Amino acid sequence: MMNRLNIIKPDDWHVHLREGKMLNIVSKFSTRINNRCIVMPNLTIPITNTELAKKYKSQILSSIQEESFIPLIPCYLTDNLDLKDFRDGLINGIFIGAKLYPLNSTTNSDYGVSNIEKIFPALEILEEHNKNLLIHGEKVAEIIDIFDREKYFIDDELTIIRKKFPKLNIVLEHVSSKYGADFVIENNNIAGTITPHHMLITKKDVFGENEIDPNLFCMPVVKEEKDLIALRKYACSGNSKFFLGTDSAPHPDTDKEPSKSIKPGIFSSPCSIELYAEIFEQENSLQNLEKFSSINGPKFYNLSINKDKLTLIKENWKLDKFTVNNEIKIKNFFGGEEIKWKVVLQE
Ligand code: DOR
Ligand code: ZN
Repeated sequence: MMNRLNIIKPDDWHVHLREGKMLNIVSKFSTRINNRCIVMPNLTIPITNTELAKKYKSQILSSIQEESFIPLIPCYLTDNLDLKDFRDGLINGIFIGAKLYPLNSTTNSDYGVSNIEKIFPALEILEEHNKNLLIHGEKVAEIIDIFDREKYFIDDELTIIRKKFPKLNIVLEHVSSKYGADFVIENNNIAGTITPHHMLITKKDVFGENEIDPNLFCMPVVKEEKDLIALRKYACSGNSKFFLGTDSAPHPDTDKEPSKSIKPGIFSSPCSIELYAEIFEQENSLQNLEKFSSINGPKFYNLSINKDKLTLIKENWKLDKFTVNNEIKIKNFFGGEEIKWKVVLQE
């Protein structure tokens, strides 16, 4: 039995650090274990140009202690992007790539893309500069069931994008279904990130008889047992098409009250690598954790692999139920429960 893991320091290829007070509370949970993070641009005023991206990067850096930490920011695509600024941002490394949020698909997506044809000029620039398109892959329409949004996005939108831009590298983010994961495996130039929660809970955990658990509600919503099993299989296989993206998405508990409209998002960064280790152990695949957490991602993004290491030991500990500070209280995923792996911060 393996009791100690020494892996190349991970990167998180999809996380929400937010801004202001929330940023100052949550950023340390990501920097404690990662060398780099792709920080999502869906702020209240989304990051749609280089000026906003530069400002946001400096806010992130001033919220943290670790000098070596690198936040990477994708440009939030809209129907009317300033294409010159977008191109400059890609060339000068201000943008790591671009993020497609379909209009009204999730938190702060009201500036999102109403019709994929509107972003064809931006996708042409991405393809030309060999930069990745990151996708929130859900099609939203009255007649589409919430559990089928990923499938419809793939069939109706992603296939069109791929036909028109065959060389464009795509990350299907937070893959949530067997259908989505199979699609990633069967096609070229596409990879996927997988969250811990999509490998740990199913819709039965989120939707009780008639009441929803607001803290387990996220987009894309977690699905059936068969989906969870497929995601576990692919993540743990070591296949280079899948890598770590927590989609840790904190909301204050006031935005999780069942009486109001519940904001989607699960806050997992206080125990994310520990949960991934537990999942890989359950699947007898601890030897593949490092590929998923630290190697497959940088390869797909054409970046170097980290030099530092991270050590985890097999030791039970209990995570606090909430992350609390004077004004803000956030429910931790697995808060109040036993966690089986522990990060060794100093040796
Ligand atoms: O559950 C989610 N929360 N999914 C997303 O795509 C966005 C995120 C957020 O920003 O809250
Ligand atoms: Zn997200």
